[in-house]
Amino acid sequence: MIFKGVLAAGFIAAVSAAPAPQVTGTSSSTTSSSSSSSSSSSSSSSSSSGGAATSYSYPQSTSVNSAAVSSAASYAGIPVSELPGATDGVVPLVSSEVTGTTSHGPYSGTPTTTGAVSNSPLATAIPVLPPNATELTYSPNGSLHNPQPIPYQPAGGLGTSGTEPVYRVQSDFDYESILLGLYQEWIELDLFHYILATFSEADFTAAGLTASDRYLIEFMADQEAGHATLLSNLLGGPGGATPQCTYNYPFTTVPEAFDFAQKVTRFGESGVWGFQAHLDSREVAQLLSQSIATEARQQMIFRQFRGLFPMPVWFETGIPQSWAWTLLAPYISSCPPNAKRLAWQNFPALHVLNQPNSARRNASQTGTNETVGWGPAAPSSDVPANQSCIANNVTGFDCSAAISQNRTIPLSYPGRPVYLQWENPGQRVGPNNSYVTASNASTPAWVLWVTQLNTTYSPLTNITRLNGTNYGQTIQPDVSTYEGDPAVNGTMFIAITDTNTTYTPFNLSSVNPHVVAGPFLYQAG
Ligand SMILES: *[C@@H]1O[C@H](CO)[C@@H](O)[C@H](O)[C@H]1NC(C)=O
Ligand SMILES: *[C@@H]1O[C@H](CO)[C@@H](O)[C@H](O)[C@H]1NC(C)=O
Ligand SMILES: *[C@@H]1O[C@H](CO)[C@@H](O)[C@H](O)[C@H]1NC(C)=O
Ligand SMILES: *[C@@H]1O[C@H](CO)[C@@H](O)[C@H](O)[C@H]1NC(C)=O
Ligand SMILES: *[C@@H]1O[C@H](CO)[C@@H](O)[C@H](O)[C@H]1NC(C)=O
Ligand SMILES: *[C@@H]1O[C@H](CO)[C@@H](O)[C@H](O)[C@H]1NC(C)=O
Ligand SMILES: *[C@@H]1O[C@H](CO)[C@@H](O)[C@H](O)[C@H]1NC(C)=O
Ligand SMILES: *[C@@H]1O[C@H](CO)[C@@H](O)[C@H](O)[C@H]1NC(C)=O
Ligand SMILES: *[C@@H]1O[C@H](CO)[C@@H](O)[C@H](O)[C@H]1NC(C)=O
Ligand SMILES: *[C@@H]1O[C@H](CO)[C@@H](O)[C@H](O)[C@H]1NC(C)=O
Ligand SMILES: *[C@@H]1O[C@H](CO)[C@@H](O)[C@H](O)[C@H]1NC(C)=O
Ligand SMILES: *[C@@H]1O[C@H](CO)[C@@H](O)[C@H](O)[C@H]1NC(C)=O
Repeated sequence: MIFKGVLAAGFIAAVSAAPAPQVTGTSSSTTSSSSSSSSSSSSSSSSSSGGAATSYSYPQSTSVNSAAVSSAASYAGIPVSELPGATDGVVPLVSSEVTGTTSHGPYSGTPTTTGAVSNSPLATAIPVLPPNATELTYSPNGSLHNPQPIPYQPAGGLGTSGTEPVYRVQSDFDYESILLGLYQEWIELDLFHYILATFSEADFTAAGLTASDRYLIEFMADQEAGHATLLSNLLGGPGGATPQCTYNYPFTTVPEAFDFAQKVTRFGESGVWGFQAHLDSREVAQLLSQSIATEARQQMIFRQFRGLFPMPVWFETGIPQSWAWTLLAPYISSCPPNAKRLAWQNFPALHVLNQPNSARRNASQTGTNETVGWGPAAPSSDVPANQSCIANNVTGFDCSAAISQNRTIPLSYPGRPVYLQWENPGQRVGPNNSYVTASNASTPAWVLWVTQLNTTYSPLTNITRLNGTNYGQTIQPDVSTYEGDPAVNGTMFIAITDTNTTYTPFNLSSVNPHVVAGPFLYQAG
C-alpha cells in the first residue's frame, strides 16, 4: 500500500528490474524489456549467481491487487480503466512474510565461521594528505565559468550526462555499505513490531501514548519494510541481499524501549550520513538519501515518545561504517546460513559508567551504570517514581511523551566528569557470535567526541586495568559549531583513541586504525 500509485510503482519496479540482467552477468544482449508497467512482468528469481554459499531468494514478481483497485475506483466513483496506474504491477515487499513473530533472545550455539569478510589489505592505514589541488581552483564568485550544456543548466555535477540511471551498487565500498544499511533496516523493522507486540495498551497509555501514536509505530515498521526492499534491490537482488536475522533487546519497559529505539535509529541515521557522500554510485546515494530522510524523522519521533527535546542540535552527525556495525552487532543474536557477511570492523566495547539517565527529573543525580541490559545503546533504566520524570506533570521536569519537553536541568553539561570502562579486543560479538572485536591502536590516550559538524578530543586520564577490564575518565568538552550551538548535545558518539589527529566529517573513517574502543552512544541531551 505504501508503493501504490503510478509513479511509485513504476519507479520502484525500475529500481528492481534494471539490475537483474547485469547482476547475472550472462549474455548481456538480453532484451531487458524495461517497460516496468506490465501487470506481472517479473524479473523471475533465476536463482542466485551472486556467489553466496547458500542461496537466498525472495518474491520479485509484480502483481495487481484487484480488490484494492476496485475499492479505490469505487471510492473515486470512476471506472478502473480511468484510474491512472491502477493496473500497473506493484513490487512485493521483500519482508512480506515477516509478521513480527520472529523469535528473540540471545544466541547459544557455536559459530561455523568467524571474522569479517576480507582479502589481502594493501596497507594498514590511510595517510593524512594535503587537499587535492584541483579542488582549490574553482572560484565561487557569482559568474558561470564554463559553457552551459543546455539553457538553465550550469556546467558540472556528477551523473548529469544523460545516461540512464543504474540503481545498483558499483564497488565493494558501495556493496558493503548498503549491506550494512540493510542489516540496520531489518533490525528496525523487527524492533518496531516487537515494541508493539510486547507491551499492552495500558503500558503505552502510562507512557503518554495514544492509539494514534501506536499506529505511528506500526506505520514506521511498514516504512522499514519498504526500506529493506529498496536496499535489497540496490544490492542487486537476492544474489547480493541478506535476509532478516534474530535479535536480542535489552529493554523491559515502554520508556526503556523508546530510549533504545531513539539510540538505534540515531546510529542507523548517522551510519548512513558517514558513507553516503562517499558512494561510487550516485544513483544509490540518491535513493538512500530519500530513505534516510524518513529514518531521521523516526529518530526524532522516538525522542518525542521518550520525552526528550526532539532535536537539541543544529546538525546531525555522521559516523564510519565500522562504528555503526560495532553499535549494531551486539543486538543481532543470529542470522540464517544464507546471510551475507560484512567486511567492517567490530571495535572493543566501551561503556560510560555514568551515562546520564534520561528517566530522571535531575540527571545530575545519575548513579553508576543506570542502564538496563547490555551493549552500547543500553537504555536508561527507569528509576523510583519520586525521582522519575515519566508522568511527572511539572514543566521542566516532565519526560512524558510530548512534541517537546524542555528540561530545566540538562542531561549533561560541559565540564561533567565522564567515567569510562572498555574491553580488550578478541571478544566474540554479533550474529552467531561469529565476529571478533579488534583494534589496531596503540596506547589509549584520548576520547574522541563526534557530534554535529566536527570532532573534538578530550584527554583520557586515570587509566587503570582491573582484572582484564580497563577504566578511565575524561571531561565533557565545551565546543560549539557556530555561535549559539554547543556541539555536544543529543545522543552522540564517543570513542577512545591513541591519537589526537584532527579528523572531520568527510575523512572520519581514517581514524579507525587509531580506535582503541567504542564507539559508545553518549546521552548528552
Ligand atoms: C583530485 O580531484 C580530481 C577531480 O575531482 C580527481 O579526478 C582526482 O582523482 C583527485 N586526485 C586525488 C589524488 O584524489
Ligand atoms: C569570476 O572568476 C572567473 C575565473 O577566475 C573570472 O573569469 C571572472 O571574471 C570572475 N567574475 C567576477 C564577477 O569576478
Ligand atoms: C540536581 O542534582 C544535583 C546533584 O545532586 C544537585 O546539586 C542540584 O541541586 C539538583 N538540582 C535540583 C534543582 O534539584
Ligand atoms: C550495567 O548494569 C547492567 C544490568 O542492569 C549489566 O548488565 C551491565 O553489564 C552493567 N554494565 C557495566 C558496564 O557494568
Ligand atoms: C523517594 O522515596 C523513597 C522511599 O520510597 C525515599 O527513601 C526517598 O528519599 C525519596 N526520594 C526523594 C527524592 O524524594
Ligand atoms: C498537568 O497539570 C496541569 C496544571 O496543573 C493540568 O491542567 C493538567 O490537566 C495536568 N495534566 C495531566 C496529564 O495530569
Ligand atoms: C528551557 O530550558 C532551558 C534550560 O535548559 C531554560 O534556560 C529555558 O528557560 C527553558 N525555556 C522554557 C520556555 O521553559
Ligand atoms: C542541549 O539542548 C537543550 C535544548 O536546547 C538545552 O536545554 C541543553 O542545555 C543542551 N545541553 C547541553 C549539554 O548543551
Ligand atoms: C573542526 O575542528 C578542527 C579542530 O578543532 C578545526 O581545526 C577545524 O577548523 C574544524 N572544522 C570545521 C569545519 O569546523
Ligand atoms: C581513578 O580510577 C580508579 C579506578 O576506576 C578509581 O577508583 C579512582 O577513584 C580514580 N581516581 C580519581 C582521582 O578519580
Ligand atoms: C576476575 O575475573 C575472573 C574471571 O572473569 C573472576 O572469576 C574473578 O572473580 C575476577 N576477580 C575480581 C577481583 O573481580
Ligand atoms: C595533541 O597531543 C599533543 C601531545 O601528544 C599535544 O601537544 C597537542 O596539544 C594536542 N593537540 C590538541 C589539539 O589537543
